[in-house]
Amino acid sequence: MAGEGKGQDVVEAILEDHRTMEELFRRMRSVEADREAARDQFSALLIAHGEAEEAEVYGALKRFRGVDDDEVEHGEEEHAEGNEALLKLLEVDEVGSDEWDERLEDLVQAVSHHLDEEERTILNGTRENVPAERRAELGAAFLAERERQLASDCGSIENVRKIVAR
Ligand SMILES: [Fe+2]
Ligand SMILES: [Fe+2]
Repeated sequence: MAGEGKGQDVVEAILEDHRTMEELFRRMRSVEADREAARDQFSALLIAHGEAEEAEVYGALKRFRGVDDDEVEHGEEEHAEGNEALLKLLEVDEVGSDEWDERLEDLVQAVSHHLDEEERTILNGTRENVPAERRAELGAAFLAERERQLASDCGSIENVRKIVAR
């Protein structure tokens, strides 16, 4: 219930996913890792995370003074760029090929840029302006939508194509 402070802090929940994404980049680079499995896991996480931010977090944050609306809208544009780069990697047939390396590099660049900017702008705006109770409510809403996405196989190539086309 509202006011009881239940739910994980939304900033912490988002940061946890960012760290996991960075770890998956490392696995997608390594010849010793199951790179295909890492790609599947990354795809599901990137889509679930971004869709949940847009559905449950970004809009709510815009209502707080001190969270820059332009930064939030820019964040949505960067999600779209990351999703396009993800689709290009999903379309590579041969894991570890030159094409794989090139497209992975593009994906890492697009997503790393967004994580950096989101943490410096939107998340710092949240840290400074959103009370703990509201942060916990937003965290709960974020995690629920994220779970819903993951349960619907949100990282499949068909779904990523749909999202990129919209
Ligand atoms: Fe994020
Ligand atoms: Fe984001």
